[in-house]
Amino acid sequence: MSITTARPRVLSGIQPSGHLHIGSYLGALRGWVADQTRYENYFCIVDLHAITVTQDPEQLRALVLELAAVYLACGIDPAQSEIFVQSHVAAHSQLGWIIQCFTPMGWLERMTQFKHKSATAGTEQERVSAGLLTYPTLMAADILLYDADFVPVGEDQRQHVELCRDVAQRMNNKFGDIFKIPQSLTPPAGARVMGLDDPTNKMSKSLGMQSPGHAVYLLDPPDVARRKIMRAKTDTNPAVSPPVAAGVDNLIDIYAACAGLTPEAALTEFTGKGYGVLKKAVANIVISTVLEPLQARFNVYANDPQQLDAMLLESAGRVTATAEATLLRVQRAVGLR
Ligand code: TYM
Repeated sequence: MSITTARPRVLSGIQPSGHLHIGSYLGALRGWVADQTRYENYFCIVDLHAITVTQDPEQLRALVLELAAVYLACGIDPAQSEIFVQSHVAAHSQLGWIIQCFTPMGWLERMTQFKHKSATAGTEQERVSAGLLTYPTLMAADILLYDADFVPVGEDQRQHVELCRDVAQRMNNKFGDIFKIPQSLTPPAGARVMGLDDPTNKMSKSLGMQSPGHAVYLLDPPDVARRKIMRAKTDTNPAVSPPVAAGVDNLIDIYAACAGLTPEAALTEFTGKGYGVLKKAVANIVISTVLEPLQARFNVYANDPQQLDAMLLESAGRVTATAEATLLRVQRAVGLR
């Protein structure tokens, strides 16, 4: 396959830093699949971002392949979309370094995710690496290498895409138009799925490791997922009545994202109904529209790691030409070539 269409380009990525939960699916992956034929797609498995915090090497290798199988099982079609591993394309690190040198420290220190992760990293094992600070500059490189028009992400990554735009603009002002300025895309519902056990915190891979009721994973058996949703935190009201508490809002948002409704329409549908009814409806729709279709396909891909490896390497080979052309353009502009 060679992708030579004139469609707008999309680039996005997910870290292979843990099993994927419905937050990442509803905030990002689902939209990638739905809009796949409208765009020229670059979907990355960002292993270099994953090592900004401690990873077990064996597990990291396994999670890269698991994520590739999840991409395919969700419906990313390798005939339509490039699916590749970030570290297989050296230009990501090379451009990342250059961008780092043109990014003020203050911009990086202001990033919400850095502030949160550095404040909650406790032990030496969970050390705050320099990579955690410079992480958004590598993400900017991922995006800018492919002249992406759009970056479909969940709400939490919008600030990083803004930083990418700012640094690209800054370098364009200095060196001429070397970068295309990308735009983030977030879905109308599901852009910020919160923890089921604690709706004040975003559903995340790291909190999921600490608390079993926090996240529904894409590979959770349906009965496990149902139990987690039925135990989700709501409030003490007997029924849904606006303005709703954060936990109820989260369930309504998840339902809306799965049903293709606006959160307002979903809220109207459940107003006056008990929380048991809402939770049951959320469990049913998550299981039938997300978990079951994905899980029915996942093993077919996951059981053939050689095929997955071959697909990832072929894709990296194809995208390298595009990435290196951008890198050379930038190297020339800044005086490295
Ligand atoms: P990551 O791996 O944390 O998350 C992957 C995608 O899932 C979205 N997401 C969520 N959406 C809604 N609710 C949630 N609870 C939730 N949790 C995660 C994220 O917004 C993201 O879209 N830095 C990125 C990966 C990255 C990237 C890129 C993304 C690296 N390079 C270039 C886009 C373009 C990250 O850590 O995502």
